[in-house]
Amino acid sequence: MSKTALRPPRGMRDFYPDDFRRRAWLFDHFRTVGQSFAFEEVDAPMLEHAELFTRKAGEEIVDQLYHFELHDRHLALRPEMTPSIARMVIAQAGSLRMPVRWFTVTQNWRYERMTRGRKREHFQWNMDVWGEPSVTAEAELIAAIFSLLDQVGLPRGEVKIRINSRALLEETLRKGVLAQRPEAFAPLCVVIDKLDKIGADAVIDQLTDSEGAVGLDETSAREVVGLLQLRDLDEAARHAPAGSHAFEELKRLFSLLEAYGVREDVIFDASVVRGLAYYTGIVFEAFDAAGTLRAICGGGRYDNLAQTLGGKPIPAVGFGFGDVVLGELLSDKGLWPELPRCVDDLIFPFGESEREAAIQIATRLRGQGRRVELILDSPKLKRAMIDANRIGAQRIWMLGPDEISRGHAKVRELATGKESEEPINPD
Ligand code: HAM
Repeated sequence: MSKTALRPPRGMRDFYPDDFRRRAWLFDHFRTVGQSFAFEEVDAPMLEHAELFTRKAGEEIVDQLYHFELHDRHLALRPEMTPSIARMVIAQAGSLRMPVRWFTVTQNWRYERMTRGRKREHFQWNMDVWGEPSVTAEAELIAAIFSLLDQVGLPRGEVKIRINSRALLEETLRKGVLAQRPEAFAPLCVVIDKLDKIGADAVIDQLTDSEGAVGLDETSAREVVGLLQLRDLDEAARHAPAGSHAFEELKRLFSLLEAYGVREDVIFDASVVRGLAYYTGIVFEAFDAAGTLRAICGGGRYDNLAQTLGGKPIPAVGFGFGDVVLGELLSDKGLWPELPRCVDDLIFPFGESEREAAIQIATRLRGQGRRVELILDSPKLKRAMIDANRIGAQRIWMLGPDEISRGHAKVRELATGKESEEPINPD
């Protein structure tokens, strides 16, 4: 066996018990927040027909697919949850009570160029609302993100949500540089989403590439990049057509966020457009306030996806919140809690003749819901004590020939050293 085969593939993680406890702690918070907003948890296969994900707008996510052909089927590991959720909603759209509020906690795979916070496999908590066209849905979702951040102990101000509206940008460009070519808007968003990563010149090169899907002239491309610099909503509205609906929606959203008590940490930022082609309206991303990490989560409105996938039009909005970047932030801030292994009782038979009684005690305690480790071999008492302390057990039950003859076990409370006798069969 090669050494390589004995390691996980690059960018993939093993979860040893300490790692797994952190993961379980985080997922518990994802689920608690999802449930506290009355969202229901759903799931879908991790393997889907590749076609569900292969959109043609030039998105990175499509090039990053883990996909293969098997028995004449072209399959892919899901890189994100949204298309699967859309598929599920479309399949039962006639009978679902709208608005649908669903959340998922799932693993996703993308063949990423790895940087800090980006792996080739990650978990994502998604919350999506289907069937609600108004920004009341966006407001709930953004409030849920802050609720999660509160739950994991991140003080307010450590994370900021940057928000924009693709609809506002689209309205602005449609009366200007895209007046003749509205279909170029989705690929344009995919290109300008890379601004932070590749810089303005490279974005302009891609927008003006005559072979590309956008094909602007240089003046128009510069104008687009100029619009992305805006950080003031009223100023952005001045570039949009009079009476802009998208501007009114953003204003309403900000006032709703005020009511949720999170307005202070949400900033208008015209450069946020998101790299996925399906977004149609408000888009947002959360970042650590210091700006040292990649996006902690991202989402937005995608009212056309159901139709693009062959269903009836259903408005939808949601977000995906990964485990990796948040994990980095909690590590940087020293905010991961101590998560020790939790065992209640350790049962120690001195020898094989006491094993049957030890099994009876373990079974009884487990039936009472206690977490019980039964010693499987025959170590010395000293080693059993060390083990009991190492696993954080509350009590050790000791069973030797004397105890058996009296029908009792000796029980020591590890925190106090206090010892008592407990019957082996209390009934
Ligand atoms: P996304 O921005 O591609 O959106 O991913 C959402 C979040 O997942 C990111 O902000 C990040 O936390 C995490 N993430 C994504 N890729 C990686 C990676 N390679 N390594 C570690 N973490 C990663 C979506 O996936 C949309 N489907 C979200 C959505 C749901 N929009 C509407 N509903």
